[in-house]
Amino acid sequence: MSDRIDLAAFPHDFLWGTATSAYQIEGAVAEDGRTPSIWDTFSHTPGKVAGDDHGDVACDHYHRWREDIGLMRRLGTNAYRLSIAWPRVMPGGDGPVNPKGLAFYDELIDGLLEAGIAPSVTLYHWDLPQVLQDRGGWPERDTALACAEYASTVAARLGDRVTHWSTLNEPLCSAWIGHLEGRMAPGLTDLTAAVRASYHLLLGHGLAAQAIRAEAPAAQVGIVTNLSTVHPATDHEEDVRAAHRMDGHVNRWWLDPLHGRGFPADMREVYGVELPEQEGDLATIAAPLDWLGLNYYMPATVADDPTGPAPRVRSVRRPDVQRTGMDWEVDPSGIETLLLRLTEEYGARRLYVTENGSSYPDVVRPDGTVNDPERQDYLERHLAACASAARKGAPLAGYFAWSLLDNFEWAYGYDKRFGLVHVDYGTQVRTVKGSGYRYAEIVRAHRGQASRAA
Ligand code: IFM
Repeated sequence: MSDRIDLAAFPHDFLWGTATSAYQIEGAVAEDGRTPSIWDTFSHTPGKVAGDDHGDVACDHYHRWREDIGLMRRLGTNAYRLSIAWPRVMPGGDGPVNPKGLAFYDELIDGLLEAGIAPSVTLYHWDLPQVLQDRGGWPERDTALACAEYASTVAARLGDRVTHWSTLNEPLCSAWIGHLEGRMAPGLTDLTAAVRASYHLLLGHGLAAQAIRAEAPAAQVGIVTNLSTVHPATDHEEDVRAAHRMDGHVNRWWLDPLHGRGFPADMREVYGVELPEQEGDLATIAAPLDWLGLNYYMPATVADDPTGPAPRVRSVRRPDVQRTGMDWEVDPSGIETLLLRLTEEYGARRLYVTENGSSYPDVVRPDGTVNDPERQDYLERHLAACASAARKGAPLAGYFAWSLLDNFEWAYGYDKRFGLVHVDYGTQVRTVKGSGYRYAEIVRAHRGQASRAA
């Protein structure tokens, strides 16, 4: 089974994890002092989410987290990537702290540690407190400052037990999908707002990194980026240039400033929006990263779209390729290419695959099992590509499967299932899928190899 994967390429202390995020699984949106986030507002706006689904109950993880830790133990994973709900901890966006909100994460972290599972905490996975949106949200500098205050509060409370911190998850989605394409909260279609949001998200990252380090000196701080390999639809010069712009939009706009190269000049020209720069910001954004997280799902193929909105590209659907239930192209070579690019071009010191996974329309069979061979295949082929990157020198220290549980898949609602564990949303019954058992076997096989080699 795992002979497709060169497990010996992974270090003995490799983190084998699963990942989730607060709004996608917690539910309990009005409990114990939590206030609405932009995703509560967005999902309760008719027509924004498939089936008008929302995260009010989701996987009810807020009440069932002990059972969910039990699932992680069954999978044999030694790490878990979770996010903290900002509006649970600081219901006013900044200012007073909600003790009950912090207490929830306190207990969850203790539960994970007791189970021998290392928590990897993401501070911001898209659930901005609505009150901050009402004051302008990420297009405004104050939101970055509030992010630092929130980071400081959480790190002060959890930093004695959590070492692995990530400031933001996928700032690209917050900025581009949330402010330019309007398909995610807050649902804007405004290039100026989007570019300003991208800038303040990265500034918020830099300030939050400082705040975490000030409160928890042993912290290992990183950021989670979703990157894509980008291919031109044809070898015509216009399409090749379009692919370069798309690379700027999804990859370089984020990676360059994080690595001290500033915002790419070609993309500044493409957007034509003045950045809200202040002295010292670029250095703050480029604070050294202890690690970088890669979320990888699929490649992008694009053609020139001269009259389209920035970055003036259109996606091209390649025929005759394997696709997931999201209609996303399956290309494991992309994860290897990106891991090597981060290593060679950006000098990454330590890398984690912080998300990778696939959605398929799973069903529980009459015998109570969930058979998901496509997801198993996706998992194995991507892990094999990760191992190949590690062999070639990528400093890969862990892999987090997206996701532990089926959950609220944003604008797609509950229809799309990414979990290694199936969730029946009517009963909240969890069922480990075939892919979950397969992941457990892989983790065990690596552990066996690592202990024999020690
Ligand atoms: O569910 C999301 C997650 O919240 C962020 N990364 C991509 C996943 C699948 O779409």
